[in-house]
Order: sequence, then C-alpha cells, then structure tokens
Amino acid sequence: PQSKLVDTHGRSITYLRLSITDRCNLRCRYCMPEEGVQFLDHSEILSYQELLRISRIFVGFGVNKIRITGGEPFVRRDCVDFMQALMEQTAHLDLRVTTNGIALSPHLGRLKEMGLGGINLSLDTLDPLRFSQITRRDGLTKVLAVFHQILSLGIPLKVNTVVMEDTSDEELRQMAALTEDNPIQLRFIELMPFSGKESGEIKKALSLEDRLVRLFPELTEISSAQIETARKFSLPGYRGNLGLIEGESRKFCAHCNKVRITSCGMLKNCLYDSGVLDLRALLRNGADDVEVAERIQQAVLGKLKDGHVTAELQDKICEDSMATIGG
Ligand code: GTP
Ligand code: 5AD
Ligand code: SF4
Repeated sequence: PQSKLVDTHGRSITYLRLSITDRCNLRCRYCMPEEGVQFLDHSEILSYQELLRISRIFVGFGVNKIRITGGEPFVRRDCVDFMQALMEQTAHLDLRVTTNGIALSPHLGRLKEMGLGGINLSLDTLDPLRFSQITRRDGLTKVLAVFHQILSLGIPLKVNTVVMEDTSDEELRQMAALTEDNPIQLRFIELMPFSGKESGEIKKALSLEDRLVRLFPELTEISSAQIETARKFSLPGYRGNLGLIEGESRKFCAHCNKVRITSCGMLKNCLYDSGVLDLRALLRNGADDVEVAERIQQAVLGKLKDGHVTAELQDKICEDSMATIGG
C-alpha cells in the first residue's frame, strides 16, 4: 500500500503500539489481580512472523513509530530477535519499548546496538516495601540497576509513574527528584480504570497538576507536540523534565496518531474500543497482503473522533487489563 492511513477526521496514523504478550512477571495492583488475568494460550497470540508481516503493512501505510508493549515484552521468548528483525525489515523505524525492567538487563547491549529509539520504564516508587505492595513481587533493586544501565548506555529514557490514591507527596517528590541529575522524562500518570477484576477498588487520583504545582511552585509547562500523551514541565536547574499523562481527565483524541494491536491480534483504534478488526483471523484464513491492507484501511477510517469511554463501555473495559491491551 502506498497511501497513508488517514481517518475520516483527517488524522494520520503514524504510530503503532504492538502488545506482544499478555503475560507479566509483576502483578501491579492497578493492572491485574494476584492470580493474573486469563492468560492466552501461545497459539492464540500472534507469532513473530505474523507480527512482522502486519508491521510491514503498517509501515507501507506511513507508520514510522512502533512501540512494543505487553504485558511485559521481555517475558516472551526471543523478543529481542523479533525487535531486531523488525528493525532490519524497516528503514528509519523509530522502535520503542515499554517495560517494567525486571528482565531487561541482559538485553540492553543488543537493544542499544540495533538503534532502539528509547525505553519507557514503569516505576511507581523508590521505596522497596511499597514497590512490593504495588507490584506484589520483589524487584526494586533490579529495576534501579537497569535504570542506571540504560542511562550509562545513553538510551533515551522515560519513567512511567502511576499515581494512586495513596501515593504520598513525599513519593511524588522522590520520583521527581530523579530528574534533577538524570536526563530523563519522569511522567506521572493518572490511574485509569483498567485492572482485570479489581476495578472497583480504583478511584481517580484527582487534579494531579494542582498537587504538583503545590509541591513544585517553580514548575513551568514546556510547549509539547500536541500528539504526545504527556504534557511536559520543567524545573529550573533540573537536567530532566516532568511529564503529566492525564489519561482520565484530558482528552487527547483530537491529535491522536496511533492504533493498537492486542497480543491476540485485535486492531484497536482507541484504548477504549473493544476492537475493530480481527487481524489474527484474517491472516490465519489466508488473506493476502492486499486484502489485509484494505481491511486495515477500512477499519482505521472508522476511528471515532472522540473515543472516550461511554457508560456501557465502562463495565466491559474494567474487566480488561492494560496487560492485554498494551497500555
Ligand atoms: P510515548 O511514545 O513515549 O509518548 O509513549 P506513551 O506515553 O504513549 O506510552 P507508554 O507505553 O509509556 O504509556 C504511558 C501511559 O500512557 C500508559 O498508562 C498508557 O496507557 C497511557 N496512554 C498511552 N496512550 C494513551 C491514549 O491514547 N489515551 C490514554 N487515555 N492513555 C494513553
Ligand atoms: N492506569 C494508568 N496507567 C496504567 N498502566 C498500567 N495500568 C494502568 C492503569 N490502570 C501503565 C503502566 C505502564 C504503562 C504501559 O501503563 O504503569 O507504565
Ligand atoms: Fe506487568 Fe505492567 Fe501490568 Fe505491572 S502494569 S502487572 S508491570 S503489565
């Protein structure tokens, strides 16, 4: 395909988020219950061959940024070989990955070598006890080690910190302090109602911006690209910057440039839709590239102007985990 992927509201799709597994080595309480989600069988998730084929078709449509997500991408066997193959088949690809960092360390050298565009590392707290309460596992030491390793290799790093009802001011301060000497973007993320079965427990952490301004009176907003999910802020003298991802309270639909593919091959035009095209079925029924491309184009055309959650969707969505959707 040679045309661009443009929806009926004039938005070009240039960013693809690929969830390559729904499994994870942590159990963050805002994401999934202790027992995990109903994990998919290996045959249900897209094979690397299928993922490479679909990615090639999207790149043909002008997609130039692909983010690998999960679950936790690095728990899937050979995922670095997959990323390498993706880089090799695509000139000028901006390849990124979102990870909790637990199993990342052995792969960093190769990721740097292949020209990975950056890593988004999930880290909600610097307190070991609280880390294990939030993730229901141990691992803070590993994540902090990998944090420094990423920086020493010079791979662009963003840290994702989900702000929960019980996140204290002191914790916000400590996380923000990571940007003082490190050239990172630390993003505070509003909790969204995705969590497997425990959604009832989740309440929105309200007016995060007000809280930050109160904690850091010198906080200044930097103008950001409208397509970015994070609003960016700086603090005088700090090497890094702060980001605010208001997934619940701000709508970024007007400039949305992305689509998602779940690990089982469902194309989603929006975090909040339940899937617009079953790519796995299409591929496994023998569709050729031309047909797949046509179906993708049709599906994306239908991307809603404003995909935010409706009342009836809310219940359904709460049963989904970010781990299936890919964040
Ligand atoms: P960048 O490419 O670095 O801007 O990444 P990102 O922030 O889009 O991706 P990441 O995987 O780091 O996700 C950070 C948080 O943003 C997660 O909680 C995502 O669920 C959330 N997020 C990403 N895209 C959207 C979106 O379109 N809508 C909403 N509401 N949240 C989003
Ligand atoms: N609300 C907000 N962010 C979430 N993430 C996972 N679940 C939620 C949720 N319910 C974040 C993770 C990770 C990113 C992909 O999504 O912390 O950084
Ligand atoms: Fe795993 Fe990320 Fe979900 Fe935590 S938020 S359980 S690290 S997929």
